[in-house]
Amino acid sequence: SLPKKVKIVEVGPRDGLQNEKETISAEVKIELVNRLSAAGFPNIEAASFVSPKWVPQMATGSEVMQGITRKPGVVYSALVPNMKGFEAALACGVDEVVIFGAASEAFSQKNINCSIAESIERFREVAQAAKQHGKRLRAAVSCAFACPYQGEVPLSAVADVVRRLRDLGCDEIDIADTIGVATANQVRPVMETAIREFHIEGLSGHFHDTYGQALANIYASLEVGISIYHSSVAGLGGCPYAKGATGNVATEDVLYMMKGLGIETGVDLDAVSDAGQFISRHLGRKSVSRVGNALAAK
Ligand code: HMG
Ligand code: MG
Repeated sequence: SLPKKVKIVEVGPRDGLQNEKETISAEVKIELVNRLSAAGFPNIEAASFVSPKWVPQMATGSEVMQGITRKPGVVYSALVPNMKGFEAALACGVDEVVIFGAASEAFSQKNINCSIAESIERFREVAQAAKQHGKRLRAAVSCAFACPYQGEVPLSAVADVVRRLRDLGCDEIDIADTIGVATANQVRPVMETAIREFHIEGLSGHFHDTYGQALANIYASLEVGISIYHSSVAGLGGCPYAKGATGNVATEDVLYMMKGLGIETGVDLDAVSDAGQFISRHLGRKSVSRVGNALAAK
């Protein structure tokens, strides 16, 4: 049987916006995060403390974190690749820091400019600092299904990096289809591999929707018992170091599916849909959420 309840982590303000070419003001990002917390998400990925030379759009992280209205009980997360990022995240009161590695050597080099082994050593220091300061620690595993640079990614590589991240003391580990190419039959073996290395309650599915497979992949993950999913309002997004990859699965679509399956999320679909229309207006284009657009047309 499927889980009765899932945690939806809204990643739109980070994964969704990081790839936008035009600079989006901190004000707009702040309003987006506030609308999302009001909609009931338990966890919002609000910022990224990476090099502004690598991802200029995320340079406003501190401003955003300091400008939002902190809703009690909501976990606000931010990406942190190294100690410099950790210090910045700490200074503005991030609740959860997210280290981000990969199951693919080639992607690790392109995205964070080091090998997988080097990344783990870099993360070790961040992990220790996070524990010391009582922060939650999450890790992303990019390219757990396929890599845009090296193609296939063996299950043994997924197992290996999940194990190493677990040993750093992560509370949660994200299994990511960075380029949105996986299909449902691939989900089971990859998730089962991760489940052998890490407690299932702490594993999440992070699916990009490039090939339109994300909802099917979430369903397949529900069948193996995964109960945390990442999604992006209005389907915003794409990774700057994964060419051609589109956004995460749209949150509105995920919420609609969960509602139909009788799975509790605690999130108000109409409020998310409004937030999706708000940010799409600001970006000057139509939302790519099918559900969001259907609701807006009513
Ligand atoms: P590097 O060039 O090897 O690092 O980059 P460095 O230590 O040599 O530093 C270079 C410059 O960046 C220096 O500045 C540093 O001070 C600065 P300079 O002296 O030249 O003026 N710098 C920083 N500035 C601000 N905050 C920091 C920071 N660190 C260094 N934290 C580095 C290595 C990791 C920094 C770089 O590769 C980087 O920032 N990469 C981030 C790439 C990224 O953000 N990708 C998108 C997020 S991952 C993703 O989307 C996937 C995910 O969604 C899951 C999935 O879908 O797969 C999570
Ligand atoms: Mg992503």
